[in-house]
Amino acid sequence: MDFTFLTPNEMIIRQGAAAEIGKICGKYAKRICIFRYGKHFDESGIAEKIGDSLKREGLDFVTFHSISSEPSPEVINEAAAFMQKNNCDGALAVGGGSVIDAAKAACALAPNGSDIMEYVEGFSPKKFEVQPLPLVAMPTTAGTGSECTKNSVITQKGQFKNSVRDDHMLPVAAVIDAELMLDVPRQVTMTAGVDCLCQLVECYVSRLSNPMCDALTLYFAKTGYTALKQAFDDGHNIAARESMALCASVSGIGISNAGLGATHGLAAGLGALTPLSHGFICGVAQPHVIRFNIAKGVTKYADITRAITGKSYQDDEAAAYELAAITEELNAYMGLPKDFRQSGIEKEQIPAIAKASMGSSMKKNPVDMSLEECEALLRSMI
Ligand SMILES: [Fe+2]
Repeated sequence: MDFTFLTPNEMIIRQGAAAEIGKICGKYAKRICIFRYGKHFDESGIAEKIGDSLKREGLDFVTFHSISSEPSPEVINEAAAFMQKNNCDGALAVGGGSVIDAAKAACALAPNGSDIMEYVEGFSPKKFEVQPLPLVAMPTTAGTGSECTKNSVITQKGQFKNSVRDDHMLPVAAVIDAELMLDVPRQVTMTAGVDCLCQLVECYVSRLSNPMCDALTLYFAKTGYTALKQAFDDGHNIAARESMALCASVSGIGISNAGLGATHGLAAGLGALTPLSHGFICGVAQPHVIRFNIAKGVTKYADITRAITGKSYQDDEAAAYELAAITEELNAYMGLPKDFRQSGIEKEQIPAIAKASMGSSMKKNPVDMSLEECEALLRSMI
């Protein structure tokens, strides 16, 4: 065996942890830049709770403007300049994947320069010379697992969706407070949740998977398929919310250590060149990718089916195909379509989408998917 296993320094899973966030942040920084999501952050009392906790620990803080969409290079450059100007020596991110990704990239850029494009994969081979500033991440949605990943996705809509990556970009602490997730709207619970499930499944079958990732992703995939339905049915089911939050964080650990696969490859292309959201794309595309991979001999999915259903299945291939069916069933239950036919994508866009899908995630798919195969798969869905 030959693998390194990366996780945040610490993971704190505790309902009510937001009220003690100052104690955690104080271990890593003295002057903190808060990255946060929109109006609900201020109106729900979370901002006050966090501010009070930071003050109690004698920490200074400044707050960057709210981040409501996948961060662009311009937002990252602005955020890094804001951190430099305010002499911040660390950050706290409170929000979904976009907020945490923005904070991660800003913490990496602030001590190193002023233009994130010098570090984006596919554009530059440049690495960060100075270690990124420490980031404490507190997710408010259960989806991307960004609190446990070492990359930040930078999006220029209509052009590209690529990562900035560095082992030291992993947040120093991931704080999971399920109380922050109780008001997440149903639609977001669904799209974030299917992204999380897709990540767990893709990490489990990734060509870079290892026994530690396998143990974690298999267990949490089993948990997630049940917990997502429960959280979707009743947003105030805090046990289901907490389970999904942990699934998301573990999916992030999977991404950091095993990488993803073709669904996320397609999500890079479709996400850059259409207005569709990341979670929606992942949820809809995943059963199609599972079937593509099984047709090329991948049957490791069978373990997940057995874990979810408790049935033994004599035939691995049949059990593997069952996972595609289970995923589609859950999608249909929550109202996700079977394909992208109603999503307003033109067939003429397919070659460009396929080309933009051949990035780092595609390379970790358990079997090769050529550009021609990628186009054919897209044609079957669009
Ligand atoms: Fe994802």
